[in-house]
Amino acid sequence: MTVSDADAARALADGRLVILPTETVYGLAADAGNAVAVAAIFEAKGRPRFNPLIAHVADAVQAEAVAVFDAQARALAEAFWPGPLTIVAPLRDRDRVCDLARAGLDSVAVRVPGHARARAIIAAFGRPVVAPSANRSGRPSPTTFADAVEETGTFAGVLIDGGDCAVGVESTVVSVLDGRVSLLRPGSVTREEIEAVVGPLARFGQGDGEGHRSPGRMALHYAPDAPVRIEAEAARPGEILLGFGPGVGDPRWSLSAAGDLREAAANLFRRLREADRERPTGIAVSPIPPHGLGEAINDRLRRAAGFVG
Ligand code: TXA
Ligand code: MG
Repeated sequence: MTVSDADAARALADGRLVILPTETVYGLAADAGNAVAVAAIFEAKGRPRFNPLIAHVADAVQAEAVAVFDAQARALAEAFWPGPLTIVAPLRDRDRVCDLARAGLDSVAVRVPGHARARAIIAAFGRPVVAPSANRSGRPSPTTFADAVEETGTFAGVLIDGGDCAVGVESTVVSVLDGRVSLLRPGSVTREEIEAVVGPLARFGQGDGEGHRSPGRMALHYAPDAPVRIEAEAARPGEILLGFGPGVGDPRWSLSAAGDLREAAANLFRRLREADRERPTGIAVSPIPPHGLGEAINDRLRRAAGFVG
């Protein structure tokens, strides 16, 4: 049965959850202003309540109704929206994105997704929609409809099949607070691309309060059941090797035989899930170059391997 944008918008208005495709990963969406619906998201994911959600909006006008943007935030929105950049900025409206969705913070994360279907549903709904990745907390994000259904489908009243996610890793999260731009989560918009718009990013540790950090960045995140071993040169007995580059490992399991970072990002979570289903003793992953999109891929892999605190 096909579901219209109006059907999805009605479900959101009724306080139900929606499996929502985006260009990065599938989300589990709810009315950002409905605390009961937002609580159901935390429940479905098993997500700790101190980890705030991203408010997805249809355009920059809707974003500025929720958050206070300075010139730098506007320049970033202009450069990268619609698309995989999330901007954390001071809160303007306490009600449109409820306290629980923000984990009580006086800042709010907003993004305009690049997926046309997601934007159409949000526009039909008319207000912000919070949507964390549709995985259960700590697991790899779903990048196909089938994976989203498997993770949290039973909690959703409406499920939208938007095809495979083109980007495959979550949005880049930056904060624009007190005139300073900081990278909170590397993602598909690269550090280099952001710095080309706003200049050098602020570094943590120089008078930065904890409030500038992303509260949800726990160790052992994005993890399959099998142990993940990164920077691997070859598979050990019982392991599946996710290769990168020509001639590395079994081509069926390669992240990108061409050594292309975009392709590797698009394949990353899907391959981790597929490999996990084979019940290997472990999943080994080839070294991935650190630049550009490689920063986000390595970040997710280090967390999947349990290395980052
Ligand atoms: O690509 C994406 O961003 C996907 C799709 C579905 O849009 N969503 C996603 O949401 O990745 P989630 O909930 O899995 O990640 C949201 C991240 C977390 O790391 C959270 O801590 C951070 O954004 N965040 C949200 N609000 C924040 C705030 N006010 N200050 C700092 N970090 C915030
Ligand atoms: Mg997530």
